[in-house]
Amino acid sequence: MAEIKRVGVLGCGLMGSGIAQVAAAAGYDTIVREVNDEVVQKGIGGIGKQLGKQVEKGKLAAEDRDALLGRLKGTTSLEELKECDIIIEAIVENLELKNEIWRTLDGLCPPHTIFASNTSSLTIADMAAATKRPERMVGLHFFNPVPVMKLVEVVKTIATDPQVFQTAFDFAKSLGKEPIVCKDNSGFVVNLLLVPYMMDAIRALEQGVASIEDIDKGMRLGTGYPMGPFVLSDFVGLDTLDKIGGIMFHEYKEKRYASPPLLKRMVSLGYFGRKTGKGFYDYSGDEPRPMPLV
Ligand code: CAA
Ligand code: NAD
Repeated sequence: MAEIKRVGVLGCGLMGSGIAQVAAAAGYDTIVREVNDEVVQKGIGGIGKQLGKQVEKGKLAAEDRDALLGRLKGTTSLEELKECDIIIEAIVENLELKNEIWRTLDGLCPPHTIFASNTSSLTIADMAAATKRPERMVGLHFFNPVPVMKLVEVVKTIATDPQVFQTAFDFAKSLGKEPIVCKDNSGFVVNLLLVPYMMDAIRALEQGVASIEDIDKGMRLGTGYPMGPFVLSDFVGLDTLDKIGGIMFHEYKEKRYASPPLLKRMVSLGYFGRKTGKGFYDYSGDEPRPMPLV
């Protein structure tokens, strides 16, 4: 894949940091952009910690970790991404904010640069429409935690150039991922099915069907899922889940995608899950404890 040498990543939160890590691990010169220096340091520091654990476990040689980190650069400037062959966006799930950045980058980047979004629920066409290069816009939807999860949904719009799509598909493979081809519908394949499941779990809790712990235990032991729905929701981020639900409800007008009232109240109070230390579980102690929510 001669076309891609430099990779840009927008956002170094939960997903952006993982995407930047796997791109640098695959040998690409990678530059990740955040809103301020503090978040850049936090994101890159988190990647360093993650890699440090692998070195301690003997799964990664210290010199390979150092080489990977040498290929990875953080910045607060969008201008510094203008030499990239592909830019993968992983900022907050908000169309206006995403499009503001795409418009700026469209003016800065050469015509060959591919724009890819890691959105969970927005359509890629709604971002492509904000640029003068709709044929070079695709979805590259990674899964959390990015270094571990094998799947990438590669999304083509009705305007995507087939060659651009193929380059993006091959790029996902070059990261060691297993890509699947998806149409540009809100939620693609996985979230179309997963989001109603997570919302249903919250509705079951609201209705008093069972406790947080027992619903989680039921789904883990009864279906073999690695995490129950509440552990998973806290892991995804309840702010993100709420935004995804709102966008999918707006698109499909089906109640199963809508955020239940409990989720909305939790987000209002800053209970975003693991990232803020409180969600369906309280993470302040040695072991997560279910929150007294109902
Ligand atoms: N970042 C990087 N690596 C991580 C990690 C993280 N956050 N968490 C765990 N790992 C690594 C560990 O280091 C370990 O690696 P080694 O085997 O090399 O030692 C490996 O993953 C297994 O970890 P653990 O043994 O600690 O834990 P586990 O076996 O329980 O697995 C898990 C952890 C992979 C997260 C597993 O619980 C799992 O698959 N959970 C479900 C995750 C899921 O469904 N993700 C999709 C969310 S939805 C989404 O992403 C789409 C969206 O748009 C919202
Ligand atoms: P996050 O809150 O962990 O990180 C978002 C990052 O974007 C933050 O660090 C924030 O500083 C940064 N940001 C906000 N506004 C920005 C701007 N204008 N410019 C640059 N950076 C900005 O969120 P996340 O979970 O990493 O989600 C990011 C994207 O990935 C969203 O579109 C989400 O839907 C999608 N996604 C999330 C998951 C998940 O499990 N959390 C999985 C797949 C896809």
